[in-house]
Amino acid sequence: MNPCLRAVVRTALAHRLEVMGIRQGFEGLLRSDIIPLGAREVGGILQRGGTFLHTGRCAEFLEEKGRHAALQTLEASGIEGLVVIGGDGSMRGAYALHRLGFPTVGIPASIDNDIWGTNMSLGVDTALNTIMEAVDKLRDTASSHQRAFLIETMGRRSGYLALMAGVICGAEVILIPEKEVRLEEIASAIEDAYGRGKTHAIIVAAEGASVKAAHVSEQLNALKVGFDTRVTILGHVQRGGSPTAFDRMLATRMGVKAVEVLLSGTSGAMVGLSGREMVPIPLEEVAGRSRQANLDYYEMARVLAR
Ligand code: F6P
Repeated sequence: MNPCLRAVVRTALAHRLEVMGIRQGFEGLLRSDIIPLGAREVGGILQRGGTFLHTGRCAEFLEEKGRHAALQTLEASGIEGLVVIGGDGSMRGAYALHRLGFPTVGIPASIDNDIWGTNMSLGVDTALNTIMEAVDKLRDTASSHQRAFLIETMGRRSGYLALMAGVICGAEVILIPEKEVRLEEIASAIEDAYGRGKTHAIIVAAEGASVKAAHVSEQLNALKVGFDTRVTILGHVQRGGSPTAFDRMLATRMGVKAVEVLLSGTSGAMVGLSGREMVPIPLEEVAGRSRQANLDYYEMARVLAR
């Protein structure tokens, strides 16, 4: 989000606009936590993870009353257009403000990559690289000790990260919320891998998978599938760290485009990556829908785990 903020601020400044930053998202908006942003305020942040404006989950903003209060704050602060960076909740909030008549443009940011209307959201590539690095390291110890490792990634409702990590890290088994897998199938896949002479086995599981990581590992150890199994839960490390080259470029392009969209007089749109292009997608289409992970990759990973 930091490289994106930099791009929004400096593009707006280049168009001779005044820029204000709202701290802690909608929560800060309701408290009028608004600060002026110049070019220097967004200096030195291109390589920093997170957001220097901080973020927050705001229950009040879910209510009509909260949204009207936010609108009043925006108007009282002399703000004439808003860029909202965030996940599906943020996009729904952005859509609500647009419907109240406030010029608003959204930028998708969620490591789950489940936001409708864009091939990639901000943070996904960085998270995936963090997972890849972790799995590569775990594979070293798995291989030395001839163990199976179950690595849990984030993704309460979306299996995108686990699925992609499964493909790029050569997992024997992938567990995601979108696909029901029985414990016996997992055990037989690992036992088979052992029988084929593999020195280790990797299971990548999304946190929202139907079978829980600890339970799977307990059962595999009880069933004596060949390898001893260990669990590693990656947790919130996946949401931090210096953004990758891909993420910096995506964030920069989305930030620039969002300002251009607002300046063109368009409101109620989200900037999305479609093919190689940045395109405005109506927030009406985005809000309340979610992007599904492509399950073709599931089969691809299965075939390649020989
Ligand atoms: O950013 C999305 C996400 O990573 C989900 O995959 C996960 O379930 C959730 O955030 C965790 O959020 P929290 O920080 O509230 O635990």
